[in-house]
Amino acid sequence: MVLFSQFLLIIYLLFLSSVLCQVTEFISIDCGGTSNYTDPSTGLAWISDMGMMSHHGKSVQVKNPNGDWMQYQKRRDFPIDSTKKYCYTLSTKERRRYIVRATFQYGSLGSDQDTYPKFQLYLDATQWSTVTVLDGSRVYVKEMIIRAPSNSIDVCICCATTGTPFISTLELRPLNLSMYATDFEDNFFLKVASRINFGAPSKDAIRYPDDPYDRIWESDLDKRQNFLVGEAPGTVRINTSKNIDIRTREYPPVKVMQTAVVGTQGVLSYRLNLQDFPANARAYAYFAEIQDLGPNETRKFKLQQPYMPEYNNAVLNIAENANGSHTLYEPSHMNVTFNFVLSFRFVKTRDSTHGPLLSAIEISKYQKIAAKTERQDVTALEALCSMSNASGWTNDGGDPCIPVHWDWVTCSSSTPPRITKIALSGKNIKGQIPSELKNMKALTELWLDDNSLTGPLPNMSNLTNLKILHLENNNLTGALPSYLGHLSHLQELHIGNNSFGGEIPRTLLTRKINFKYENNPELHKQRFKFIFGSSIGVLAILLVLFLGSVYLLHNLRRKISNQKNNEKGDSFRTNTKPLAAYYISLSELEEATSIFSKKIGKGSFGSVYYGKMKDGKEVAVKIMAEAASHRTQQFVTEVALLSRIHHRNLVPLIGYCEDEHQHMLVYEYMHNGTLGDRIHGSVNQKPLDWPARLQIAHDAAKDFGADLNIVHWARSLIRKGDVISIVDPILLGNVKIESIWRIAEVAIQCVKQQGYSRPRMQDIVMAIQDAIKIEKGSDQKSSSGDSDAQSSRKTLLSSFLEIENPDLSNGYIEPSAR
Ligand SMILES: *[C@@H]1O[C@H](CO)[C@@H](O)[C@H](O)[C@H]1NC(C)=O
Ligand SMILES: *[C@@H]1O[C@H](CO)[C@@H](O)[C@H](O)[C@H]1NC(C)=O
Ligand SMILES: *[C@@H]1O[C@H](CO)[C@@H](O)[C@H](O)[C@H]1NC(C)=O
Ligand SMILES: *[C@@H]1O[C@H](CO)[C@@H](O)[C@H](O)[C@H]1NC(C)=O
Ligand SMILES: *[C@@H]1O[C@H](CO)[C@@H](O)[C@H](O)[C@H]1NC(C)=O
Ligand SMILES: *[C@@H]1O[C@H](CO)[C@@H](O)[C@H](O)[C@H]1NC(C)=O
Ligand SMILES: *[C@@H]1O[C@H](CO)[C@@H](O)[C@H](O)[C@H]1NC(C)=O
Ligand SMILES: *[C@@H]1O[C@H](CO)[C@@H](O)[C@H](O)[C@H]1NC(C)=O
Ligand SMILES: *[C@@H]1O[C@H](CO)[C@@H](O)[C@H](O)[C@H]1NC(C)=O
Ligand SMILES: *[C@@H]1O[C@H](CO)[C@@H](O)[C@H](O)[C@H]1NC(C)=O
Ligand SMILES: *[C@@H]1O[C@H](CO)[C@@H](O)[C@H](O)[C@H]1NC(C)=O
Repeated sequence: MVLFSQFLLIIYLLFLSSVLCQVTEFISIDCGGTSNYTDPSTGLAWISDMGMMSHHGKSVQVKNPNGDWMQYQKRRDFPIDSTKKYCYTLSTKERRRYIVRATFQYGSLGSDQDTYPKFQLYLDATQWSTVTVLDGSRVYVKEMIIRAPSNSIDVCICCATTGTPFISTLELRPLNLSMYATDFEDNFFLKVASRINFGAPSKDAIRYPDDPYDRIWESDLDKRQNFLVGEAPGTVRINTSKNIDIRTREYPPVKVMQTAVVGTQGVLSYRLNLQDFPANARAYAYFAEIQDLGPNETRKFKLQQPYMPEYNNAVLNIAENANGSHTLYEPSHMNVTFNFVLSFRFVKTRDSTHGPLLSAIEISKYQKIAAKTERQDVTALEALCSMSNASGWTNDGGDPCIPVHWDWVTCSSSTPPRITKIALSGKNIKGQIPSELKNMKALTELWLDDNSLTGPLPNMSNLTNLKILHLENNNLTGALPSYLGHLSHLQELHIGNNSFGGEIPRTLLTRKINFKYENNPELHKQRFKFIFGSSIGVLAILLVLFLGSVYLLHNLRRKISNQKNNEKGDSFRTNTKPLAAYYISLSELEEATSIFSKKIGKGSFGSVYYGKMKDGKEVAVKIMAEAASHRTQQFVTEVALLSRIHHRNLVPLIGYCEDEHQHMLVYEYMHNGTLGDRIHGSVNQKPLDWPARLQIAHDAAKDFGADLNIVHWARSLIRKGDVISIVDPILLGNVKIESIWRIAEVAIQCVKQQGYSRPRMQDIVMAIQDAIKIEKGSDQKSSSGDSDAQSSRKTLLSSFLEIENPDLSNGYIEPSAR
C-alpha cells in the first residue's frame, strides 16, 4: 500500500515535470531552511539559503507555523542593525518579465521580549514594501512583477523599526510572451495589490501547478478584515468542469476561470482595501461565461463603480465580447487611479435576463523604479572587492548606496547616487589599483593606504573632484602622473612608503597641497629640461624675439616722439638668479600692497599694484582680470611657464597667489627709482642690433625649457587677443599693440602643423620691420596705421581659429595667408 502511494507520487511528479518545463526556471528559496528538498504537493524544488546567506542572520524554528508547509517551518532572522541591509541576489535575464515574491510568516511570539517585527523590503533601489506583522499565523505575501533591468536583482531587508527583521521564502517566476507588459515598464514595476479568484471552491489560494506561472490567486472565501466586504445580496457561486480557453494575454489558470460569482438580483458588489494606495494602477477583470444560456437568455451588465467615464457606459456582454462561452474575456484599464478603499459594483442592464458575473480580478500598483548607484561606480567597487579575500567588507551585497550605504563608502544624494568616498585603509587589498576607478567622477576622497597595492596608478585625470588621496604604505610603482598637479580640488596627497619613481610634477610642489611623499627611493624633484624640438624651439625663440622687440619698439617710439636725453645708467638689470615662483598668500599680498592701494599700471589683463614684501623686496602685483573664466588649471600652467622665463631683459616672476576669486602674479619691481624713471631710463638705451637680439633669444630659449604647453598657452592668449599678458607689465601703455601683433603673428606661425607653412627667417625679419613701421607710422598718420593694424589682427585671429578648429570641409588645414 505504502509502495503503491509512493509509486503514485512518483508518477505525479514525473507528470508535473514533463508537462511543465517552466519549473526548471523557477527559483524557490526556503530562507532559514537547512536542506534542499522537493515539495511533494507541488513538485517544486526548494533550496536552502545557507549558501547565499552564510554570513548574515540565523535560521530560526518557527513556533506554531500555520499548516505543515516545509518552507514555513523555519525562517531567517537578521540582526537588528538599522545601518545594515541584507540582500539576496537573484540572477535574471535582462528585459525578461518575472514575478518576484517574498513571503513572511513569523509564527507565535517566542518570549515576553519578542515583538512582531516591522521593517523594510527593497527590490534593487526601489522601496518595495513595509512588512508589518500583526498576526503571527498569517503568511504575508509581497509580490512584484518586473521586467528585469539587468542580469540580476537584489532583494534586500533593512531598517527594522520594531522586532527582528526576517524572511520565510523568496521566489522568482519567469513569465512568458508579453504577459504583464505595460507602456510604463521602463520606469515602473508592478506591485501586486490584489489578485482574487471569485467563486473559489475553498479558502485555499490557487497557484502552481494549477497556474503554470505560479501566481497566487487568493480565494474570495478567505474572509478577513476589509477584504471583500459589502457583498450584494443574491450573490451565488457557480462552477463548471468544462475547459475554458484562456489563450488571450495574461493566461489566468483554467481552474480560476472555471468558477465565478453571479449577482442573481442584478447586482455584484464588493469593497476591499488596497495597500499603499491611493496610486495609479493597472486593473484587470477576468470573465468567462460558464453558464449555458439559452437562445432567448442574455447576460448584459455595466460597471457602475468606481466611476470611470469611458468604462461606465460600456455594456459588458461576456459571450459576445469573448466570441463564445467558456472563453476568456479580460477587459483592462492600464492606468487608473484608485483610492485606498476600492468599492466596485456591476449592475445588469434592463434588457438582460441574467445578472452580472465575475471570475477574477487583478490590481497592481505602479511603483516607480528608483535609480541604482551609477553603474560605472559600482563596477569600480566590485573590482576593489575582488582584490581582497577578507570576508568582512566585501560581501555587503545589494546596491552600494541604497537603501543604506555600505559602511566603507559614502554616497551623494543625487539621482542616480554616486560614490563620493571610498575608505579602504588597511583592508588587505592586493594587486593593481583597478582602472575602473578612473570613471568615478564624483569621488572626492580615496583612502587605499596600508594595503598591498602594486603597479602603476590608473589614469585618474578625470577625477576632477578629488580632494583627498591616500595611497601611502603600499608598494605602488611607476611615475607620479602629471595630472595629479592639475586636479584643482586636491588638498591632500599622501604617497609615502611606496616605490614610485621619476620626477615629481612641478605643480604638486608649487601648489598649496598637503603633499607627503617620503620613502619613495626612486622619486625625485624635477630637473631642468632642454628640449629643442624643431617648431617648438623656433617658437620659443620667436616669443623671446617678440618680447625683445617690444623693448626695441618701445625705445624707438620714445626716441621719435620724445627725443629727450636721459643719462640714467644701464637699463637692464643684471642677470637674476632663476627662482621657481612660489605661492604667496592673499593676506601677505594685502599686507605688502597696503590692501592694493597704489596702482601703477592697467591693461586688458587687469591692474598692477606696487607692494613691498616683509623682507623688503619691492614687487609689482598683477591682478588678472576675468579670474572666474580663467580656469585654475590654465593659471597654474601659465605660472609654471612664466616662472621659467628668466632673462636680464625681462622682469622676473617671483610668485603667484591663487584665491577663490582672483589670480595674481607677483613680479619683481625695478628698484631704480619710480616707474616713470624706469621707462624714461630705458629710452636712452642704444637699440639692440639683430645679433644682440638673437643672442637674447638664444639665451632665453634655453631658459624656456620649451614644451608643448607654451604653444597652448601662447595660442590661447593670442586667441583671446590678450598678447599684452605676456609682455613686461612695466611697458604697458607705451607700445602700439598692433606692432606686437605683427610679431606675434609671425611667431605663432611656427606652430603650424605643416613645415612648408612655417615662416622663413626673412619673413620674421620682415615682420619686425613691419612692426617698426607701425610704431613710426602711428606717430605720423595714426588713422591709417590703426586700420592696417586692425586688419592684421583679423588675419591673425582667423588663422588661429583655423589651427584650433580645422575646417574639415576643406579636407586639410589651410596655411594662413601672409
Ligand atoms: C542546495 O542547492 C543549491 C543549489 O543547487 C546548492 O548550491 C547547495 O549546495 C545545496 N545545499 C544543500 C544543503 O544541499
Ligand atoms: C514558456 O515559454 C517556454 C519557451 O518558449 C516554453 O517552453 C514554456 O512551456 C512556456 N511556459 C508556459 C507555462 O507556457
Ligand atoms: C460546483 O457547483 C455545484 C452546484 O452547482 C456544487 O454542488 C459543487 O460543490 C461546486 N463545485 C465546486 C468545486 O465548487
Ligand atoms: C498614469 O496617468 C497619470 C495621469 O493620468 C500620469 O501622470 C502617469 O504618468 C501615468 N502612468 C503611471 C505609471 O502612473
Ligand atoms: C426562454 O425560452 C424557454 C423555452 O425555450 C422558456 O421556457 C423560458 O421561459 C424563456 N425565458 C425567458 C426569460 O423568456
Ligand atoms: C467567432 O467564433 C466563430 C466560431 O466560433 C468564428 O467563426 C468567428 O470568426 C469568430 N469571430 C471572431 C471575430 O473571432
Ligand atoms: C584569495 O584566496 C585564493 C585561494 O586562497 C587565492 O587563489 C586568491 O589569489 C586570493 N585572492 C586575493 C585577492 O587575495
Ligand atoms: C589620461 O587620460 C587623458 C584623457 O582623458 C589623457 O589626456 C592623458 O594623457 C592621460 N594621461 C596618462 C598619464 O595616460
Ligand atoms: C575622461 O573623460 C572623457 C570625457 O568623458 C573621456 O573621453 C576620456 O576617455 C576620459 N579619460 C579617461 C582616462 O578615462
Ligand atoms: C615592492 O615591489 C618591488 C618591485 O616590484 C619589490 O622589489 C619589493 O620587494 C616590494 N616591496 C614590498 C615591501 O613588497
Ligand atoms: C612609513 O613606514 C615607516 C616604518 O615602516 C613608518 O614609521 C612611517 O610612519 C610610514 N610613513 C607613512 C607616511 O605612513
